[in-house]
Amino acid sequence: MSKKKKNIILENIKLISAGAKGVAVGKTEEGKTVLVTGAVPGDIVNARVKKAKSKYYEAEVLEILEKSPYRVEPKCIHFGVCGGCKWQNLSYEKQLDFKQEEVYNNIKRIGGIENFETLPILGSEEEYFYRNKMEFSFSNARWLTQFEISSEENFGNKDALGFHIPGMWSKILDLKECFLQEEPSNEMRLAVRDYAIKNGLEFYDVKNQEGFLRTFMLRQNSKGEWMVLFQLYREEKENRENLFNFVLEKFPQIKTLVFAINSKGNDSVYDLDIQTYFGEGFLYEEMDGLQFKIGPKSFFQTNYKQALNLYRKTLEFAGITENDVVYDLYTGTGTIAQYIAKKAKYVIGIESVQEAIDAAKEHAKLNGLENCEFHCGDMKDVFTEEFLANHPKADVLVTDPPRDGMHQKVVEQILKLAPKKIVYVSCNSATQARDLALMKDDYDLVKILPVDMFPQTHHVENIALLIKK
Ligand SMILES: C[S@@+](CC[C@H](N)C(=O)[O-])C[C@H]1O[C@@H](n2cnc3c(N)ncnc32)[C@H](O)[C@@H]1O
Repeated sequence: MSKKKKNIILENIKLISAGAKGVAVGKTEEGKTVLVTGAVPGDIVNARVKKAKSKYYEAEVLEILEKSPYRVEPKCIHFGVCGGCKWQNLSYEKQLDFKQEEVYNNIKRIGGIENFETLPILGSEEEYFYRNKMEFSFSNARWLTQFEISSEENFGNKDALGFHIPGMWSKILDLKECFLQEEPSNEMRLAVRDYAIKNGLEFYDVKNQEGFLRTFMLRQNSKGEWMVLFQLYREEKENRENLFNFVLEKFPQIKTLVFAINSKGNDSVYDLDIQTYFGEGFLYEEMDGLQFKIGPKSFFQTNYKQALNLYRKTLEFAGITENDVVYDLYTGTGTIAQYIAKKAKYVIGIESVQEAIDAAKEHAKLNGLENCEFHCGDMKDVFTEEFLANHPKADVLVTDPPRDGMHQKVVEQILKLAPKKIVYVSCNSATQARDLALMKDDYDLVKILPVDMFPQTHHVENIALLIKK
């Protein structure tokens, strides 16, 4: 280790595994853990310390001395600049290994749980083109490459349509290609961008909050029907209609085109009034014979094929019988609840977003399922002693909370409800492990199954089955 005042350089660090948020993990000669960004497991690097904590260093790569044997050539020209697919330079096989390892380690270390079965991670059949929803931003402040800046040439128009540069909210990467969503996703985005530039439509100015075109969202269903959502900063009726007609004429796959005028400080769609320009304003999706109606604001799993696997495995873990009463916490639009309702006696779904609950009720109607009810509100305020006193006791409980996991009060309430089985679906195994630790005196963790919904990223879903002791 060489050290110059605050500038600590760690030399010859062999990175052996992956840690939270995809960092590569190694150890110093003295045995202190180093979390390195900008490298992959298997690399040997020199790294500069950014934060020195008592138990570990956070560092960034300075030089790669030896390249990892697990490295592969990234597919995308934007790799390294775009924040999207940070593991594109790591073989998919190894991505899966590291995801599995991270989940297992979290349950053991954070959860303090031993002796559970870890099923082999369920990888995604599609390593690319797996997303059914993408959102792009317009900006008049295109991110310039180092080459463009240093050449001092005038690269002309600064309009861009693409992704925010990580950590630089006002800068947008002008996307030439993206391998996350099937075509015509790229074709549509590039056509809209070119049309807008050619016709002098103003791209959004994030810093000064002005302009016309703001965001562009594309969503498709498994039948290949598309929904397009434009967010516009202000109304320019003629420009708007000409743009929409151009897109609709060029892409007959579009089943519905919707838009919103958004002059707020943020791009969030949830509090906007969405107007339908073409079609019905929503798409239908089918999953194992169940119908789901997806609007521009609906949450729906973005990797359709892996969502099918996730729901099927959740159901398999739950092992529902026709006499079971099942609670589905954090039910969203009731997707898991509908799967369960086909098998169970009765299902109770709880969720905080009113529109999702409205959709869950509509889905139940659409699927002819009368044995379910849905409640809206913050989980810790709805799922209370009083609620339990007025509702049937649960045989099985399924929970699928957001990244933060469950509120401690919710865990306590689950322990009081004391279902025979709990299936805990999570997109963050660290918070899942924290919650499992609170339940380990009452429940045995029988098995876990990591599921990869997001290839090329460090994210991983995990299903856990708990049985009452
Ligand atoms: C991971 S999603 C699960 C969605 C659903 N199971 C599915 O697969 O479509 C988590 C859900 O929890 C909801 N949620 C987040 N915080 C909540 C809270 N405090 N109380 C109730 N629901 C909450 C979100 O709105 C979201 O729908």
